[in-house]
Amino acid sequence: MSARTRSMPRRSCFSTPGSNERFLQKAPTVPADMSFLDLEDSVAPKEKEAARAKVVEAIRTLPWDDRVLCVRVNAWDTEWTYGDVVEVVGNAGERLDEVMLPKVQRAAEVVALDLLLTQVEKKAGLPVGHIGIEAQIETTLGLINVEEICAASPRLETIIFGPADFAASMEMPVLTGGVQIPEYPGDHFHYVFSKILMAGRANGLQVIDGPYLKVRDLDGLRDFAQRTRVLGYDGKWALTPDQVTVLNEIYSPTQEQFDRAWDILDAYQKATEEERRGAVMFGDEMIDEASRKMAVKFVSRGERAGL
Ligand code: GLV
Ligand code: MG
Repeated sequence: MSARTRSMPRRSCFSTPGSNERFLQKAPTVPADMSFLDLEDSVAPKEKEAARAKVVEAIRTLPWDDRVLCVRVNAWDTEWTYGDVVEVVGNAGERLDEVMLPKVQRAAEVVALDLLLTQVEKKAGLPVGHIGIEAQIETTLGLINVEEICAASPRLETIIFGPADFAASMEMPVLTGGVQIPEYPGDHFHYVFSKILMAGRANGLQVIDGPYLKVRDLDGLRDFAQRTRVLGYDGKWALTPDQVTVLNEIYSPTQEQFDRAWDILDAYQKATEEERRGAVMFGDEMIDEASRKMAVKFVSRGERAGL
């Protein structure tokens, strides 16, 4: 249902290992904007094939409400991608919204998934284009090619940064994924965050930050998530229900920002329509058409967050 979910909120994207039935049962009760059932790195190689049937069962039978529902398949350099897509989309494609493709290195990988999805949709009697794609950038080659990757398929809905695999691909001397490196004088991922954001936005995609692996450190998560929030990211992965709570707050505008954005829109509309002026004072600031565009973003994010 790519049309359904393209602009739905993804402040918190909650990961659940597809091999763990207990966690799968619990996932719909966690108030995340988006849930993804994982067949990739949180599933042991020996469980990969058995996990597909568990994920199919979970998608078909659990009460998912209207959240964005996604499955992460294995990357194209494994022996599992094709089977993951055929089995999960073929048997649970009706409620499934998206497939997440990890470790994308070249645009051709997204094109290949798009073509495979078209065949599976036709065979399963689903409308072609029903399933959207989320692509993870988590290797150096993927980052170099991110602009072509973001433009590779109309099914793409989001581009995601994968900090743990990316740190490994860069050979960064860290052992924990997605956290600040205290020795680095600044944000060691700033360039990466900005590059992915620009490529995603230039193609109309939502842009998501990956996991914060120190799951007990909620203050650290709050602090780290602010970096991508202020750049303009839409959301971040959550590995626990407590992380979901923090992220739903961080990636929503505050009530004050939301109210101020509405005030700017009202003042600017009055200025342009009644006074025929393109730039006017709003308190002690000058506002113009660009201010309106900024305010519209806060209003739409606030409305999506239920403000
Ligand atoms: C997520 O998949 C990551 O590697 O950070
Ligand atoms: Mg990864």
